[in-house]
Amino acid sequence: MDTITDPTAAPANQGYPVIRPERIDGSDTGAIRALTAEAFAHADHATGSEAQIIDALRDAGALRYSLVAVHAGRIVGHAAASPVTLDPSDDGWWYGIGPVSVHPDFQRQGTGSGLMRALLDLLIVYGATGAVLLGDPTLYARFGFAAREGLVKADLPPEQAASFQALRLDGRTGCPQATVTYHPAFDVD
Ligand SMILES: CC(C)(COP(=O)(O)OP(=O)(O)OC[C@H]1O[C@@H](n2cnc3c(N)ncnc32)[C@H](O)[C@@H]1OP(=O)(O)O)[C@@H](O)C(=O)NCCC(=O)NCCS
Repeated sequence: MDTITDPTAAPANQGYPVIRPERIDGSDTGAIRALTAEAFAHADHATGSEAQIIDALRDAGALRYSLVAVHAGRIVGHAAASPVTLDPSDDGWWYGIGPVSVHPDFQRQGTGSGLMRALLDLLIVYGATGAVLLGDPTLYARFGFAAREGLVKADLPPEQAASFQALRLDGRTGCPQATVTYHPAFDVD
C-alpha cells in the first residue's frame, strides 16, 4: 500500500492554528492587545507601544487588514496591515505590514509564516500594489521582501535602512522611488 507523506510543517495530532479575520464586534480586541504586549515584551527591538498602535489604527479606521491565528479557541497570533502613503505618489495602493505577533509559547511552529502568507494573499486578492515592512531581513526574505534602492521610510535612521523592505504585489517589476509614510497611529510613543 502507498504511504501518504504529509508535506506540511503542522505537527501530527497536535492541531494547528486557524487563521481568520479579527471579528468586527470588538470581541477579539482585548486578546489581540494582550498577545501583542506579550510577544513584543520578549523582542529586542520592541518600543512597548505596539499594542497601542493597533488600537489607534483600529480607532482611526486604518486597521485595514487584521488577521488572528486561533489555537484551541485562544488567539495566539496576529498580523495587521494599514495603508501607507508614498511621496511622490505612484497612484497605487501600498500597505505597511505590522505589527505581527505570535505568542512566545507558539513561536517557531510556522504560525508567523502562516499569518504572513494569508495577509499577503488578502492584499493581492484586494488589489494592493505592494507592501512594506520594517523588520529583520532574514525573517522576511522568504516572502520576497527586500530593501529597494530609492524606496525609503520617512524619518528612519540610515543605520536601519536595511530593515525597511518592500514587495510588489501587482505582478509588475520594480519599485517606485519614493518616501513612505506610515499612518499617524504609528507615531504614538
Ligand atoms: C517574528 C514572529 C512573528 C515570528 O513568528 P513565528 O510563528 O515564530 O514564525 P515562524 O514559526 O513562521 O518562523 C519563521 C522563521 O522565522 C524564524 N524566527 C521566528 N522567530 C524568530 C526570532 N525571534 N528571531 C529569529 N528568527 C526567528 C524561524 O526560525 C523560522 O525560520 P526557519 O523556517 O528557517 O526555522 C514572532 O517571533 C514574534 O511574535 N516575535 C515578537 C514580535 C516581533 O518581533 N514581530 C515582528 C516585527 S513586527
